[in-house]
Amino acid sequence: MNQPVMGGVATLNVPAYIKHQKLINWVAEVAALTKPARIYWCDGSQEEYDRLCGEMVAAGTMKKLNPAKRPNSYLAWSDPSDVARVEDRTFICSETKEQAGPTNNWTDPAEMRRTLHGLFDGCMAGRTLYVVPFSMGPLGSPIAHIGVELSDSPYVAVNMRIMTRMGRAVYDVLGADGDFVPCVHSVGAPLRPGQQDVSWPCNPTKYIVHYPETREIWSFGSGYGGNALLGKKCFALRIASNMGHQEAGQGGTGWLAEHMLILGVESPEGKKHYVAAAFPSACGKTNYAMLIPPAGFEGWKVTTIGDDIAWIKPGADGRLYAINPEAGYFGVAPGTNEKTNYNCMASLRENVIFTNVALTDDGDVWWEGLTKEAPAHLVDWQGKDWTPASGTKAAHPNARFTVAATQNPVIDPAWDDPAGVPISAFIFGGRRSTTVPLVTEARTWVEGVYMAATMGSETTAAAAGQMGVVRRDPFAMLPFIGYNMGEYFKHWLNLGKKVGEQHGDVLPKIFCVNWFRTDADGKFVWPGFGDNMRVLKWKLDRIEGKAGGVENIFGTTPRYEDLNWNGIDFTREQFEQITSIDKDAWKEELKLHEELFHRLEQNVPQELVNAKAELEKRLSA
Ligand code: GTP
Ligand code: SPV
Ligand code: MN
Repeated sequence: MNQPVMGGVATLNVPAYIKHQKLINWVAEVAALTKPARIYWCDGSQEEYDRLCGEMVAAGTMKKLNPAKRPNSYLAWSDPSDVARVEDRTFICSETKEQAGPTNNWTDPAEMRRTLHGLFDGCMAGRTLYVVPFSMGPLGSPIAHIGVELSDSPYVAVNMRIMTRMGRAVYDVLGADGDFVPCVHSVGAPLRPGQQDVSWPCNPTKYIVHYPETREIWSFGSGYGGNALLGKKCFALRIASNMGHQEAGQGGTGWLAEHMLILGVESPEGKKHYVAAAFPSACGKTNYAMLIPPAGFEGWKVTTIGDDIAWIKPGADGRLYAINPEAGYFGVAPGTNEKTNYNCMASLRENVIFTNVALTDDGDVWWEGLTKEAPAHLVDWQGKDWTPASGTKAAHPNARFTVAATQNPVIDPAWDDPAGVPISAFIFGGRRSTTVPLVTEARTWVEGVYMAATMGSETTAAAAGQMGVVRRDPFAMLPFIGYNMGEYFKHWLNLGKKVGEQHGDVLPKIFCVNWFRTDADGKFVWPGFGDNMRVLKWKLDRIEGKAGGVENIFGTTPRYEDLNWNGIDFTREQFEQITSIDKDAWKEELKLHEELFHRLEQNVPQELVNAKAELEKRLSA
């Protein structure tokens, strides 16, 4: 194996177990461009994880939490400017603008390569380049895909170890010439000789760039979550959605890469279903995936396959099988507590990396909603003294935890089964304080695709920008579809059509939900969380032909008497408040559907145009 010296900057020092010359050459190339002081090949071991965390503690990037309170756990505070995904700095650089579509930022790939070449030139000076090999999906499974991330952030390396199957075994799968998605990441903060580092290096200039044709990811300037952990949104959604779409072009059905949780739900009689649900960022996936059935649902069990991303393929029987390509959860901390999500809290007892939560005086963590009363004193996510009188949030609203999926007490036994689990229902939901009712069942696949395609949601802290603004977020995938959105709609329709033609009535039912309708005081009317089980049960009963409902303009909805109200005091009037359909509000809503279709121009599938016309007819009848 050749061991080139990088212009006197860093030696490659390739471990003997790596036999993939193309990969080695690529690392050498990136190192020649970015000029790191050192190159380190991650092996994914616990020893390595502990060491990197220790180094970050010494460097001030992380604090070790009190081991008596939170064993083997750390807290990182980011730069205040680097706290969420940056959608306006995220690019899909396909060959043509048309391929990226009107909902993605696009720049000509040649031009983008020139820009990035300038930015990456010397950008790792003084830092270590970490080579992070990872598998999305079980190692060696036929549906898994491998990536290698080159990053100058040790925070990325340790988070990737939790979020993916990361480490040496990936090279065994890759062998001498296996395919991998090359991912290059830099915080964009080179160090001059002797320059003191900051605790969270980043750059005000940010670029999160995808080249779908060559399946490459280049990320510059941010160390945060979906901007930097490139296996997650960049690979498992934006690049993977391209892969699944391309494979349909080769005559098959292709497959789906979706922003969906996957859960298992078992009745007291032992009948088990799996459902997949797409809610936009910070709209309840992690919570739903770990739901504990409320009083009145004794004997029901909910188990987690995944909390954020699903890869879905038709099986030989035509049913759609889903896997979770991830191995950990990068979840929203605020609002999480023993009551709203006991299983999540149990997952967070040890071995956690927290980002942007507050530090307690006894070396533990706190965030808004963890306890009813805030501690008398904290150090907030910006490192400042905080008291309940401060009038600011102690944790950033998009503060997160990173934790291994295996720590979830209700992990499903099939959570890493390479065959995936058969999906009985797709659920789509947005965060809507008005207009959208609690639950609606689509009567057909096309009607369901229409509902998902036209879904709106209020923006959250998970992405930089204004919060609480209603925007269309089709399939909860607006920021994550790696190609033309109209083509994405067609892909869903075609997949359903092909499966239907070949296998008959095997497709999952499609439902639309909204947990977030508010009353006159702005309070959520629906209790949500565990009580979402009541709606889930109705869906399962519908699947099995056991529950009633009424047809309305949009689909089928339950009457008050169709839901199980054991163990809760929820009145008919309250139910009315969250299920009523305001025709005028819906006429306004339809204008927003129209706006979206207008934006997508000729790429909107005719079936959806027809579905919209039907809807308008029923609405004005
Ligand atoms: P991402 O990780 O950004 O994709 O978010 P997510 O979809 O997994 O959302 P998550 O489950 O982390 O919930 C986000 C926020 O919504 C948290 O503050 C939750 O407490 C809150 N939330 C979740 N489920 C419900 C619900 O059923 N009702 C209400 N009112 N709030 C909820
Ligand atoms: C989301 O924003 O949907 C997340 C967090 O799950 S991130 O990893 O930053 O994308
Ligand atoms: Mn997400």
